[in-house]
Amino acid sequence: MRVVLLCLLNFLIGSDGFTDTKKRKFPENFLFGAATSAYQVEGGWDADDKGKSIWDTFLHDHPEKIVDGRNGDVGPDSYHNWRRDVEMLRELGVDFYRFSISWPRVLPTGFENKINEKGFKYYDDLIDELLKYSIQPMVTLYHFDLPQELQDLGGWTNPLSVTWFEEYARIVFKRYADKVKYWITINQPNTICIDGYGSEAMAPGINAMDSGAYECVKNVLLAHAKAYDLYQKEFKKKFEGNVGISIAVNWYDPINNSTENAEAVEKARAFQLGLYLDPIYSKDGDFPVLVRQIVDKKSKEQGYSASRLPKLSPQEIKLLKGSVDFLGMNHYTTFLVKPSQQEYQSPSFEDDVGVEYSQGEQWKPAKSVWLKSAPYGLYKACIYLNLNYDYPNIIITEHGWSSGPGLRDNSRVDNMRGYFGALLLAMEDATQVKGYTAWSLMDNVEWTAGTSERFGLYEVDFESENKTRKARLSALVYKNIIETREVDL
Ligand code: NOJ
Repeated sequence: MRVVLLCLLNFLIGSDGFTDTKKRKFPENFLFGAATSAYQVEGGWDADDKGKSIWDTFLHDHPEKIVDGRNGDVGPDSYHNWRRDVEMLRELGVDFYRFSISWPRVLPTGFENKINEKGFKYYDDLIDELLKYSIQPMVTLYHFDLPQELQDLGGWTNPLSVTWFEEYARIVFKRYADKVKYWITINQPNTICIDGYGSEAMAPGINAMDSGAYECVKNVLLAHAKAYDLYQKEFKKKFEGNVGISIAVNWYDPINNSTENAEAVEKARAFQLGLYLDPIYSKDGDFPVLVRQIVDKKSKEQGYSASRLPKLSPQEIKLLKGSVDFLGMNHYTTFLVKPSQQEYQSPSFEDDVGVEYSQGEQWKPAKSVWLKSAPYGLYKACIYLNLNYDYPNIIITEHGWSSGPGLRDNSRVDNMRGYFGALLLAMEDATQVKGYTAWSLMDNVEWTAGTSERFGLYEVDFESENKTRKARLSALVYKNIIETREVDL
């Protein structure tokens, strides 16, 4: 039945977007929001005793790693402009605002023995202002900005990171459990670990595929599960909040239907999706068998005495299994997959996966090289989650589009509409999606792309003293969708 549906859908929409022109409605209780993250918008990198994060260090030490040299030292300066941010959220009429807490702003060394009240005051004010206007805060505890002092102890490759995170989570839960009902423990473990500890692209920029990157995956997942467990035991009963994790769930399709491409896509899905989803959702609660087989075999060939992929103990498996109230799905695009013809550095993540990615030539390109518009991929990703992970509760915690500067962002509007169409179809087809989050509320520091790629519903004038924000066309369209719960497709 599903296969027939997918075929029918491909036939109806091709793979270049939705051509259907109906009006469609979201359920009345569907939640709409917008997102940012601390390093990307706050600025105030050393204000009021904030500690250094790995992103401060990374971009100060390697200014060449960011395209336009505009790092997060000031960015949109939400540390000072938060009132304006809330005003924007009110203009949009969103139900919730997803933002992250900067761990080194509230615990400058990373450890619980030194709490920075001045740093916490920023979040106290922001949360109170949101609640004053009935906007629910959705708080991400970790969005890439590890305290530098913890990195100096090995960061996420140190098994103690699980406890460091748990202690940090306890302090934040204690402080805000009465006000915050949506929590995201960790944002995108793949970016943290594979890009941060398996390549030099993202902070901390340690290329340690021989052990670090997969060790990080294990520790980050366990840190998430510990924080989830802690919330269940100490806060859930009284405060009734929901705790999830945000995972990058882009879609991977074979470039065509040959057997070798089918195998390649299995690998891509196992390494890109299953590595993070299986321990939480699958029956055996372990890393995917395919990933285990490949990494074990390669490690042996490479002369390692043990596999580069760490084992999960029965207790760890138990802790991880079912450790979410909802899956935070970050979805941006689709990749077409075939077996790799390239020679990769070994060991490396690319070498382990062994596939090459491309995107449809007819798909509309965004400013970011990796981002093209393929709404059908969101539909397929949802169906895949339903079939493989038993209809999980989903909140889309990120979806968005990069453009250049300018207020007339028709490409963002087209992309948003296309993906809303796909999302609504997936929901008609039993996908349990409770909410949608636009990335991003405003232009921000797009990690290594700096401000050269603009993801904002609001444009930020980075040259101006107050980092002036102006609504783009997409903000007005989004506002209208939120108001009417209806999309014109
Ligand atoms: C996902 C990340 O969570 C976010 O920080 C980033 O800006 C967007 N992807 C766009 O690349």
